[in-house]
Amino acid sequence: MAEKGIFISFEGGEGVGKSTQIRLLAERLGKLGHQVRVTREPGGSAGAEAVRHVLLSGAAEPFGVGMEVLLFAAARNDHVEEIIRPALAAGEIVLCDRFMDSSRAYQGASGVLAPEFVATVERVAVSGVRPDLTLIFDLDALEGLKRVRRRLPETALAGAPDRFEKDDIAIHEARRQAFLSIAEAEPERCRVIDAAATPETVAEVVWRVVSQALASRSLRGGADG
Ligand code: TYD
Repeated sequence: MAEKGIFISFEGGEGVGKSTQIRLLAERLGKLGHQVRVTREPGGSAGAEAVRHVLLSGAAEPFGVGMEVLLFAAARNDHVEEIIRPALAAGEIVLCDRFMDSSRAYQGASGVLAPEFVATVERVAVSGVRPDLTLIFDLDALEGLKRVRRRLPETALAGAPDRFEKDDIAIHEARRQAFLSIAEAEPERCRVIDAAATPETVAEVVWRVVSQALASRSLRGGADG
């Protein structure tokens, strides 16, 4: 039977510092000899990266949240089948910047879509591949947006917020609450991380959670030691 890796997703609102934490964690795991696969959504596979631009440019926005959630799902399914499932089968640790919980919090919590529809779309998209561990980075929505603005001049899209960043602060706050509700509903899978601290402090918390997950997995006879 194929070795089974571990799938960790990183979730939260805008500007919570996921990317920095993923980089630091990947470095630390790599030094310990783990095979690490860093990936992201929307995107991560060739097909999903093609859909990413349609979503983040706002090109799909006029067609409604239903259209957007289906496009995220199409991208997710391609990403799962092309990248995540094979990496897990090869025993790798997959670190994914956003996954299904972003669709729940951004599209699902918009209040426009029936919860059964969102859940059905999620089931089809992930096709049985769900994170073993989800780190939810929690930060005041306004503080997160300030961080994004400070970072913008360094990016290719200087000054231009993307389709989702441009939403009102109340919407960002609702997404934050949606992420916290997910964590409350699925405490086995999710850990809430206070993202207000310095990156170094947050990294230590992340390491504690992840190393515990790896240890308990190896006790249960998983692939990682
Ligand atoms: P991205 O530029 O990757 O930045 P970040 O993850 O640092 O915020 O932006 C992805 C955007 O897409 C982000 O605003 C969240 C949104 N998104 C959804 O609305 N639904 C989803 O299912 C996913 C994966 C992302």
